[in-house]
Amino acid sequence: MIALIWAEDQNGLIGANGQLPWHLPADMHRFKTLTTNHDVVMGRKTFDGFKRPLPHRTNWVLSHRDLTLPVGVKQLRHLDELWALNAERPNELIFVIGGAGVFEAVLPSADRLYRTKIKHAFDGGDTWMPTVDYEQWQLSRHVDGMVDAKNRYPFSFDDFTRR
Ligand SMILES: NC(=O)c1ccc[n+]([C@@H]2O[C@H](COP(=O)([O-])OP(=O)(O)OC[C@H]3O[C@@H](n4cnc5c(N)ncnc54)[C@H](OP(=O)(O)O)[C@@H]3O)[C@@H](O)[C@H]2O)c1
Repeated sequence: MIALIWAEDQNGLIGANGQLPWHLPADMHRFKTLTTNHDVVMGRKTFDGFKRPLPHRTNWVLSHRDLTLPVGVKQLRHLDELWALNAERPNELIFVIGGAGVFEAVLPSADRLYRTKIKHAFDGGDTWMPTVDYEQWQLSRHVDGMVDAKNRYPFSFDDFTRR
């Protein structure tokens, strides 16, 4: 099963200059909790932004190039390799973690969505989430986040399954 997981601002912004446009520890915690012990698949630029593999997860990096990757990180050269991986382990959740082009390409084949919505408009962004047709998705869980000193913007977590 394939799940997309991302965080977006109120305008669908997801990235700025190779990084997240915000610091929101509650979202990082959710991301870690959901993806730990699973496969995570990401575009090469998202991996470049992390600078190191995400621990306790099998890291897969999509790229057409000949990459030199850290030990344990695996490359996918084509999405067909992701479909094959998914077919090999149909009962396991594979998390696709961005960025924008990867989300757009995988969305039609995704089974679940894990969205963090940040109710704030950030400046200076350069990467946006592609349009999601929520008519195709059933909200299975909604949680409003707690604003506090470390999480300074209102936010919510929404999980969806395909209708
Ligand atoms: N808010 C969030 O939840 C979230 C999540 C993820 C990322 N982000 C942000 O988004 C930005 C990066 O996203 P991005 O959209 O610019 O780049 P990206 O999707 O991370 O990486 C794009 C690269 O991935 C490779 N790629 C993509 N599709 C491929 C395919 N079908 N087959 C083979 N290779 C493929 C290509 O690499 P090559 O050029 O090497 O061939 C492409 O240039 C950063 O700012 C990051 O922080 C935000």
